[in-house]
Amino acid sequence: MQARIQPLENVTQPISQANGLPNESYIDHDFFKTEIKKVFYPNWFCLGFGNDVPNPGDVAPVDFAGIPLLITRDKDNTVRVFNNVCRHRGMKLIDNPQNIVGVIRCPYHSWCYKLNGELFATPHVGGPGHNKHASIDRKNTGLFEVRTHVWLDMVFVNLSGDAPDFDDYTKKLQQRISDFKDQKIYHGGPDSSISITVKSNWKLPIENTCESYHLPWVHPGLNSYSRLQDHYNIVEPQLYSGQGSLVFNPKLDDSGRKFDSFPNLSEKWNTAAEYIALFPNIQLGFQKDHFFVIHITPVSVDETDERVEIYYATPEMTEAKWADLREKRAAMWTEVFNEDVFAVEGMQKGRYAPDFDGGVFSPTMDISTHCFHDWVARQLMR
Ligand code: FES
Ligand SMILES: [Fe+2]
Repeated sequence: MQARIQPLENVTQPISQANGLPNESYIDHDFFKTEIKKVFYPNWFCLGFGNDVPNPGDVAPVDFAGIPLLITRDKDNTVRVFNNVCRHRGMKLIDNPQNIVGVIRCPYHSWCYKLNGELFATPHVGGPGHNKHASIDRKNTGLFEVRTHVWLDMVFVNLSGDAPDFDDYTKKLQQRISDFKDQKIYHGGPDSSISITVKSNWKLPIENTCESYHLPWVHPGLNSYSRLQDHYNIVEPQLYSGQGSLVFNPKLDDSGRKFDSFPNLSEKWNTAAEYIALFPNIQLGFQKDHFFVIHITPVSVDETDERVEIYYATPEMTEAKWADLREKRAAMWTEVFNEDVFAVEGMQKGRYAPDFDGGVFSPTMDISTHCFHDWVARQLMR
């Protein structure tokens, strides 16, 4: 049986006529490489978190879809991202997160780099005992730096270097969530990080969290305090999409304790919550008393790391005496995210069906999912 290949133009049609992205964009290894080049390289995407390098001198390697990158925090607290590769013979520099006391030293021939990327030492490069050579221009042989922007602790990068200015790219989102955009946020600590690896393409967890349609069947617990009919779609073509709930009020325990809320929120947030995918690879969860990021890292065409980081409104909420309530909050979200795994992995399995045509969209319930598909398709058609 010959698999049909659906044209990408089908995806960009109005929702009632559109198909979803074709099977090969979920299962084909070559398509995956194309997608990394066309969807990730030219755009801003989230690589990791400032929290990965909490102290001056910290460095954290990240292999993003096989691209070796390095997040660093300088002594003056500047977060930078470099190619994790030595300028000499291309050795990967750093394998594990660590604190650098002096300089980043390549383990092969000991060339050393400052935390700002500058080439600092080149032992014996001009022959034994000669640590300089006229042909090695240290000024132009520093680590390759990647365009970086930190917002709400997320470390965004633009590998091509020519994406629009970060604030232009996020302007409409910042307007939408203006109450949160400049908030100080405080990570809850080790109990507020969740990691899940799913056997699916990177797009499926995003598509799944974009919509609330699956709520009654997949999340009966969540549906008990935030019902399907309380939800609404959020759509900004070519930028972000997601869903919101007018009623989000889970009870974490019977103690009556409540986390501090973020200051100066408008009334809407007393009961509302919004879940917004900023394309391509993060989903932001806004609630009055916590903020979370679901960070999606493509590992291969059919494997994806999902990482959730939960932040609170005041430093007090990160203290040990709040640990039990933070753990309940994290457990609540862990349950919800784990409930989604079978759906995401089931959609991945379904995409090996040769006649599957990308599927159809509900013109009312799948608006946000189609918005994401439409954006991906347009990146691929550029
Ligand atoms: S490859 Fe790094 S010093 Fe030679
Ligand atoms: Fe879900």
